[in-house]
Amino acid sequence: MPQAKEITADSLDTNEFIQEKSAEIRKAVGTGIAINALSGGVDSSAVTMLGHRALGRNLKTYFIDNGIMREGEPERIASIFKKLGVDVEIIGARDDFFGALKGVTGPEEKREAITQTFYKKVFADLVKKSGAKYLLQGTILTDIDETVAGIKRQHNVFEQLGIDPQEAFGYKIIEPLVQLRKDGVRKVAEALGLPASIFNRMPFPGPALAARVIGEVTPENIAIVRKATSILEEELAAVNAFQYMAILHNDRVTGMRDNKREFGRQIEIRCWDSIDARKAKPSRLDFGILEKLANRMVTDVPGVVSVTYNIATKPPSTMEAI
Ligand code: XMP
Repeated sequence: MPQAKEITADSLDTNEFIQEKSAEIRKAVGTGIAINALSGGVDSSAVTMLGHRALGRNLKTYFIDNGIMREGEPERIASIFKKLGVDVEIIGARDDFFGALKGVTGPEEKREAITQTFYKKVFADLVKKSGAKYLLQGTILTDIDETVAGIKRQHNVFEQLGIDPQEAFGYKIIEPLVQLRKDGVRKVAEALGLPASIFNRMPFPGPALAARVIGEVTPENIAIVRKATSILEEELAAVNAFQYMAILHNDRVTGMRDNKREFGRQIEIRCWDSIDARKAKPSRLDFGILEKLANRMVTDVPGVVSVTYNIATKPPSTMEAI
């Protein structure tokens, strides 16, 4: 399949783009039904609004509660969309995802387990339940670039890897944002009437908190990294960075608490300055902020005795840990 032609944020006419893509979606789906999975990120949020403009009630939007999202996300995102007139059904799928991740430790294997669970199990069930033939999704050009370059298998890229979704999963995939990068998607999301809390939202990876657990992704490890993420997001809310994240390490180190030895967990903090995620530098965070973060992590996150700040650049680092 030829690479989609890039539309840069500068050259993007949002109204024209929205009209053109809505017409394309309507033409492809006809009078049938399509589904989409909303994660609350800017890409899937823009696709949800675009799909609703194009198809109205013939688009069914689901939030997949896969157990690896941030604290309170399913309800918060469903309520934002309710105010915009879009009904979102929350689908409980924790057991499917934790089952698929059990015993899996390799980074690409984890990504693959999540992809397969979404597309082969959860979306396939939803397609059956709704009678849909199409899945609308928010793949962007950067997702394709990284996958094709063989750096990280992005959770939502198939055709460029020679996988035909119709054959592999039993439904067709429509990708209206595939010519855009993140800055273009933000403009489209704003033009579609989404609130700033969504169109300015920091990127969050498809594999969610699983991208931030080194080693096995268990409910216990996710609970630790979820709590660390809540603290990080509170403390860095005023910091103008491209993206920040807390990562849970697999190996333990000796600590001490209440005069007793504690062989405890380690949290690594990353905070990136970047334009487009292709290159990134660590933000020069104020040391006072780092100290406060460290104090809260060791006090409020059970079992954590070590907190580090990553000062490497991308490349050779990548932004997420897996
Ligand atoms: P890396 O870790 O590759 O991350 O330097 C670059 C940007 O991409 C995000 N990311 C993903 N986004 N699906 C996504 O939708 C994925 O599988 C995925 N993996 C990484 C990451 O959060 C960062 O913004």
